[in-house]
Amino acid sequence: MCGIVGYVGKKSAPEFLLGALEKLEYRGYDSSGIAICNDKEKKDKVELIKKKGRIRVLRETVENFKDFFGKVGIGHTRWATHGEPSDINSHPHTGASGKIAVVHNGIIENYMILKKNLMQKGIKFASETDTEVVAVLADYLYDGDIFETVRKTALSLEGSFALGILCSDFPDRIIAVKKESPLILGFGNEENYIASDISAFADRTKKICRLDECEMAVIKNSEVSFYNFSGEKINKTITEIDWNIGSSEKNGFDHFMLKEIMEQPKAVKETLSARCSNNDILIDDLTKEYLENINKIYIVACGSSHHVGVAAKYAFEKLSKITTNTDLASEFRYRSPIIDEKTLVIIISQSGETADSLAALREAKHKGAKTLAVVNVVGSSIAAESDCVIYTWAGMEVAVATTKAYSAQLSVMYMLALHIAKILNKISKEKFEKHFNNLLNLPDLIEKTLEEKTKVFEIAKKYCQRDNVFFIGRNNDYAICMEGSLKFKEVSYIHSEAYPAGELKHGTISLIESGTLVIAVATNHKLFEKTISNVREVKARGAVCLALTTEDKREEIACVADDTICVPRIPPIMQPSLSVIPLQLFSYYVALLRERDIDRPRNLAKSVTVE
Ligand code: F6R
Repeated sequence: MCGIVGYVGKKSAPEFLLGALEKLEYRGYDSSGIAICNDKEKKDKVELIKKKGRIRVLRETVENFKDFFGKVGIGHTRWATHGEPSDINSHPHTGASGKIAVVHNGIIENYMILKKNLMQKGIKFASETDTEVVAVLADYLYDGDIFETVRKTALSLEGSFALGILCSDFPDRIIAVKKESPLILGFGNEENYIASDISAFADRTKKICRLDECEMAVIKNSEVSFYNFSGEKINKTITEIDWNIGSSEKNGFDHFMLKEIMEQPKAVKETLSARCSNNDILIDDLTKEYLENINKIYIVACGSSHHVGVAAKYAFEKLSKITTNTDLASEFRYRSPIIDEKTLVIIISQSGETADSLAALREAKHKGAKTLAVVNVVGSSIAAESDCVIYTWAGMEVAVATTKAYSAQLSVMYMLALHIAKILNKISKEKFEKHFNNLLNLPDLIEKTLEEKTKVFEIAKKYCQRDNVFFIGRNNDYAICMEGSLKFKEVSYIHSEAYPAGELKHGTISLIESGTLVIAVATNHKLFEKTISNVREVKARGAVCLALTTEDKREEIACVADDTICVPRIPPIMQPSLSVIPLQLFSYYVALLRERDIDRPRNLAKSVTVE
């Protein structure tokens, strides 16, 4: 949801800003822009270029402007919230004098009131955005002291905001402000940076400092000062991160999504090896003493991360025998969940920045629960604020549709369920060993499942022109249907729904007509016959069925389904790790055949930092 960057140094600001914005493009790609202070000759206004469309459009425009040069600048990549994607609505925004430029990530909730007040004073606005009000208000309040101006402006704002601010009267600095939205400072060699995410500058420095709530910073090339919103100077610690963000190249693949699907064995292996050694799982934060005192677990997340929770719930309840609830973070935070110090709240997030998940984490902490985060991005807000963190080591995920992070998250959740069961003596030593070995085998089995790639492509060719698709399954097969359906609609733009197979008769079946594609996931042997009955019911009403089952059921299902994809058989609780693979591939290939923008699907952003 928008990415902001800033540079103060001795080299070309536009060059850094464009590169950094490209790394943050996953946060939104409706438009982008940069503002610089041209230090060759002092100017009355900041210089600005902003363009609707991808960052490559901005890059082309900037590269065509020979005089667009400066050593201090800010940049923005936008996911539109207020106002359509257009040049005018793009950031940076300025006030009437053109002296002050602002980039913003977040939402200014009181912008209408502020805008109305300013308009009553005769001030004109150019855009429909909430951000413009920040620039216009700062411009209105400006009295020659840019720090005080920004501070007073920040105090007038309600909502969430990470701001980067530039003023042509002070061409040696940028001012950073943070409330709720993430903002990180990087410290280089005679140059400093700001960004919504470390990946923007991780190739230049590993020294970072995260701004906390209601903090500001004045950043020059050789000096950075920190303040609170009262204007008092504060001390902050600079930390060195040990994080190799991994490659952001396609390495011969046409799309990041396919590359990342193929990287899943490695992602799961690295995630597991970080915590599994000597036939044991190392999770020191969840001790016997602590676990014996909890009576409830909540798994809270958004989108695909939530689907990980839905699949993991089955493993948690079966192995650890503790009541486990899953919740969408956007719902959880507003529905007064019953939480106390006997509740463990697990937050799952690839980015570690999802606004709703972060708010849910804060709510859980506030109510006294212990919080554990399963996060992919090291040093992200959710990782920083939770009581303990288990990182997934999937590496940087570039495609907006998550695949390898999903699989890595799922492997952490199995590991957690198994660890809790062992510590609480809920499973025998033999059972633990069996599950543990199955867990360690997952990377090889995922590799084997990926070998079905060509077959899935052939099936995708057959079904890629359908307009409606239903994914049906029971128990954790249903959890996989939820993820399969989300992935499918997200990248193919074809309507799809996930339904518990047993629920079809209670309404949804009226949507089944001749030619409707139903994808039935039937890997759970106990429920196999029941799901097959549901397949027969939809087929009797004209549906075409693609079945996903385990290898040993191939022949049985072939009698009812039109097409079948098989995965290796493993104990049901871990089966989702394999079943999800063909569904990811199917989504990818259908999107490819429909010529969709696979890595950057329309209207989406990878990191959802606003509500
Ligand atoms: C779907 C997808 C999203 C994310 C969701 C949560 O492919 O990627 O549904 O899973 O936005 O994001 P994180 O995991 O970063 O909190």
